Amino acid sequence: MSVVPYKDKEDPKKAQVAEMFNNISPKYDLLNHVLSLGIDIIWRKKAIKMLQKDQPKLILDIATGTGDFAIEALALNPDKIIGVDISEGMLEEGRKKMKKRKLDHIIDMQMGDSEGLLFEDNKFDAVIVSFGVRNFENLEKGLADMYRVLKPGGKTVILEFSKPKAFPMKQAYSFYSNTILPQIGKIVSKDNSAYTYLPESVQAFPDGEDFLAVLKKVGFHSTVCKPLTFGISSIYVGEK
Ligand SMILES: C[S@@+](CC[C@H](N)C(=O)[O-])C[C@H]1O[C@@H](n2cnc3c(N)ncnc32)[C@H](O)[C@@H]1O
Repeated sequence: MSVVPYKDKEDPKKAQVAEMFNNISPKYDLLNHVLSLGIDIIWRKKAIKMLQKDQPKLILDIATGTGDFAIEALALNPDKIIGVDISEGMLEEGRKKMKKRKLDHIIDMQMGDSEGLLFEDNKFDAVIVSFGVRNFENLEKGLADMYRVLKPGGKTVILEFSKPKAFPMKQAYSFYSNTILPQIGKIVSKDNSAYTYLPESVQAFPDGEDFLAVLKKVGFHSTVCKPLTFGISSIYVGEK
């Protein structure tokens, strides 16, 4: 059974995830930075650095949300970044941000599903995702479609929560994510489930070598896992 945001609803995970992100979209950026004490910004920067040598010109940012990973990817000096997401609410927040920062000519935010991308094979120099893959309804299908649209020789860089393994961080993080985080999330976002779903979905999601095994299964090679901040997050890289 996959973990879904609203346990009392029968909708498929994808519809529930889109509904949840539509609900929390106005407060998403604020909650992200508050709940991670701003560390999420550093994690995104570190993940983008993994592409520094490649200097990709056309980048696809999957599950772009409000576009923060796409904005970090500007450090690579690309010609164009296309961000896709299944939540219109998140995209709308993102589009407002791009317009305000005068980035809408380079970052294009579109409705799109990672599990059925409307792009031709071998199109992008790099495909990136931050905090998105955990929400896919079908992880293998999503990663396989990312592989399909990536150019041979291109890289994927994926940033996702993982599970700290060592004492005392394991215990401290478990306490924080199961008690403090859902409370603050609930008060600020007004969505009762979103920030309970977050630790539950992290717990159920493959991390480290388990995630690399899925990347390899869909075709990626030269895979690497780089844990960040005691393993609270990890960067995964794979090549086509
Ligand atoms: C936690 S947010 C991450 C947003 C952004 N990448 C960031 O780092 O802040 C996860 C996003 O994944 C999107 N998402 C979930 N499943 C998706 C799918 N199958 N295809 C595209 N986007 C998806 C959600 O709508 C949501 O906006």
